[in-house]
Amino acid sequence: MVRSPRLIEVDRQEPAAIRAELSGELAASPAVISPKYFYDALGSRLFAAITELPEYYPTRTEAAIFARHVEAIAAGLPSGLTLVDLGAGNCEKAARLLVPFAVRTYVAVDISAAFLRDSLERLQQQHPDIDMLGVGTDFSHRLSLPGEIGDGPRLLFYPGSSIGNFTPAQALDFLRQLQRAAQGGSLLIGVDLLKPVEVLEAAYDDSLGVTAAFNRNLLRHINRLIGSDFALADWRHLALFNGAQSRIEMHLEAVRAVSVRWPGGERAFAAGERMHTENSYKWRPEDFAALLGKAGFSAIQRWTDERGWFAVFLAQAGEGR
Ligand code: AVJ
Repeated sequence: MVRSPRLIEVDRQEPAAIRAELSGELAASPAVISPKYFYDALGSRLFAAITELPEYYPTRTEAAIFARHVEAIAAGLPSGLTLVDLGAGNCEKAARLLVPFAVRTYVAVDISAAFLRDSLERLQQQHPDIDMLGVGTDFSHRLSLPGEIGDGPRLLFYPGSSIGNFTPAQALDFLRQLQRAAQGGSLLIGVDLLKPVEVLEAAYDDSLGVTAAFNRNLLRHINRLIGSDFALADWRHLALFNGAQSRIEMHLEAVRAVSVRWPGGERAFAAGERMHTENSYKWRPEDFAALLGKAGFSAIQRWTDERGWFAVFLAQAGEGR
């Protein structure tokens, strides 16, 4: 019998706090919804489907970089590693690194520990000698890693260009938190790069409409969380590249004048009015390297694909190593 991975919840957000946060976001002008609400059970599946789309290049480009350079990356890592996977989801990306990185302890972190149970149990069957732990925590505001993860040398793993959801100022703040949380270890992070607008906009407005479904599913999730009455037919998906800010913006646009009600609030939207649902920043590699340096990282190494569409950075959290 293989042991079961431990699952713990840290700083769990109460339903009332979630309702208050969302009501505030909906009441603002313009309404700006936190992208973490995309990921209910269906939203997570839709995101997995997005990663299979021909237009959505980030996931497969990053996977190709890892496949090609895994040994060079591993060469920069200490033995007896604790791999801390931030936003682990189905744990697929980290699963391919456990053996090449000789990981001793695997810590999967995601917004809900319950989401991690099945994937972690499967992974534990395949790697009975690796100590595994699931941590449920919303690290988008603040990263607090529990003492249970132990004191082996840490590699924080933040793939997929999830860092792109943060503005540069927020990204700097978040990277500083990672620098502290690494406790002298290192960070392995995937970052999507600037590229022609047509490629970017197609990746976020695919011809099959999966990204549109992912964006509009947010409304179903909000309806369940706060008891609102968003009608999906009233909203269309928009994805636009904002060149001045170097980011893809996703919005939901009201196709007619609508009013939305929920217990304790309501909001009128004019026809054409938008809710901002996501930013996905696209970096220049040298700017991101500079950001890592500013956040206190050193010995920064980077790998990219031939087209220069995506970059993987490895950086040390310790001083001058
Ligand atoms: C999970 C934040 C990296 O920004 O590309 C994909 C989310 N949104 N398609 C991204 C997303 C629309 C994705 N991240």
